[in-house]
Amino acid sequence: MLTQKMLQRLNEQVNLEMYSSNIYLSMSAWCANKGLQGSANFLKDHSKEELSHAYKLFDYINETGSMAVIDTIAKPQNEFASLQDVFQRTYNHELVVSKSILDLVDTAMGEKDYSTFNFLQWYVSEQHEEEKLFKEILDKFEIIGMEGRGLFMIDREIAALVR
Ligand code: FEO
Repeated sequence: MLTQKMLQRLNEQVNLEMYSSNIYLSMSAWCANKGLQGSANFLKDHSKEELSHAYKLFDYINETGSMAVIDTIAKPQNEFASLQDVFQRTYNHELVVSKSILDLVDTAMGEKDYSTFNFLQWYVSEQHEEEKLFKEILDKFEIIGMEGRGLFMIDREIAALVR
């Protein structure tokens, strides 16, 4: 059984993962509207992945005999300055998520909840992968550059990253 504090933090994380899913879906729509189909596909795929992160937490909470509570999800941004702006925001957002996961790990330790501590290790590894992925995408803007066919090439490179 989860402590009240642990349950509240896990429920907040469910909400944050669902918000992440909506941000990436909103970004996907913006990219599709601008003809950047590779990035649109990548972000839509990533939106689904974020939902799977939320469901994994949801299942864990319910399995402990506690109850997952679905709360209001904040409206995501839907206008962006450029494709680079989109991916700078994805990277910044992943840093926020990583901080939240580490805070959850701290809470589990503080509550002496070693089962949840163990469960959260998957998210610690996943956040390492997510930060790496979005940093690699941001690097492409520096390496390829935006001149000439740069945007087209970056979009094609991002399309190839669909997992
Ligand atoms: Fe579920 Fe991208 O963090």
